[in-house]
Amino acid sequence: MHLPILGGRLVPGARTLVSGVSAALALTTALACSDSGPGPDGERYPGVAAALNLNLDAPANYTNPAWPQYYDADARTLDNTPFANLGTDRGATLGRVLFHDVNLSISRTISCARCHTNGTGFADTARFSVGFDGRRTTAAHSMRLGNARFYRLGSAFWDRRALSLEEQATDAIQSPVEMGFDSAHGGMDAVIARMRGLAYYPELFTWAFGDSVISEIRIGRAIAQYVRSIVSLDSRFDREFAAVYDSTLPEKGVTRPFPGFTAEENRGKELYFTDTFEGGAGCGRCHRQPTFTLFAQSASNGLDAGETRIFKSPSLKNVALGGPYMHDGRFATLRQVIEHYVSGVQDGPALDGQLRNLGGTPQRLPLTEADKSALVAFLTTLDDPTLTADPKFADPFRR
Ligand code: HEC
Ligand code: HEC
Repeated sequence: MHLPILGGRLVPGARTLVSGVSAALALTTALACSDSGPGPDGERYPGVAAALNLNLDAPANYTNPAWPQYYDADARTLDNTPFANLGTDRGATLGRVLFHDVNLSISRTISCARCHTNGTGFADTARFSVGFDGRRTTAAHSMRLGNARFYRLGSAFWDRRALSLEEQATDAIQSPVEMGFDSAHGGMDAVIARMRGLAYYPELFTWAFGDSVISEIRIGRAIAQYVRSIVSLDSRFDREFAAVYDSTLPEKGVTRPFPGFTAEENRGKELYFTDTFEGGAGCGRCHRQPTFTLFAQSASNGLDAGETRIFKSPSLKNVALGGPYMHDGRFATLRQVIEHYVSGVQDGPALDGQLRNLGGTPQRLPLTEADKSALVAFLTTLDDPTLTADPKFADPFRR
């Protein structure tokens, strides 16, 4: 029924639309403005029109999110958006293009999205991700990107080595394993030279930043704006929390039973948010609601005896969409993760005090098998299919 509109508005791409996802995306774009002809911006940016399924007249809302009430002051103070990069919907749209563009790898084979796939919560199902050459793999497991904006500066990557999402954004491009533009291969200058030759980039940089200059800083800013817009607000946990939220209660009322949860999910929630000395599993002390990002002062979770390093965890939103888990992807299932906290925590200089018994030894939790299943059931309520299916994060390229 809408095909004539689709055909009329998107002639150059219509013939090349093969996948259902890009067809659905194009349809959404077409319907959004089916009452107007090709917009003025569409005509001024022919390189974009030829390569991308983007409606430059009406970019999606990335930078003015409507956060729910339970994202109150506590969550907002975690926001790492810098004043120098508050962002615009145009900048984030450019970030989306960069994120999905295989031209940012030296072999033109992989984009950021290869290792951060939407369906897994923006991570990878492989324990270690295969890089641009199709052979070598990353040293760490890929990270889910949802809610990355709710970490203080100095905590990007598992080992917190990058200062900010801006700084981190071009790291993968320059990695000798991931995308291959390392210093031996010309670094950022080489990728920028390549981008100047792709008609859509000078156009998009003009559209987003006012002139066609392509620089490392602008690339980093645009990608960071895009990554920051990946915020999870529509898991079952969110819907239920919105219904019981009360800012005057401890933990804002999160420990009240959620009416729409099963008894098992509520039991898992209770264990998650109850401290270990009160018979719970103590998870909520470190992986904090409502963003489920890691408490800034959290130390090691004791994966290896004698550990001196302190890792971060990505937000647990979407954690059940796919393992493996931990910085080295050592656990294939959430059940194994729970088992680690029950009986596997190892002592070491960096072990967090939360994971020690009163005497100082590593914690052992007296959880039943039913309790462990309940924790897994609760973690599964953090999955957010609205986020992972959101067309504004889909691949914008006509392929
Ligand atoms: C070959 C796979 C691969 C590619 C390509 C890739 N990444 Fe990653 N990404 C990873 C891995 C692995 C990690 C964890 C690395 C570490 O901590 O050492 C990671 C971590 C991150 C993080 C840190 C998240 C956090 O919470 O600290 C961000 C942000 C990120 N990647 C964004 C990107 C962007 C943007 C691109 C494209 C420019 C990209 N990635 C390309 C594999 C990849
Ligand atoms: C002392 C703070 C702390 C506590 C308490 C804690 N964790 Fe963690 N958790 C971490 C850290 C740190 C990591 C990242 C470790 C790494 O990969 O090196 C992590 C990682 C995870 C991961 C893997 C995330 C991923 O993307 O791979 C899951 C799942 C998880 N924790 C669940 C839980 C559950 C469930 C509990 C309660 C039984 C819990 N955690 C208690 C600190 C904590």
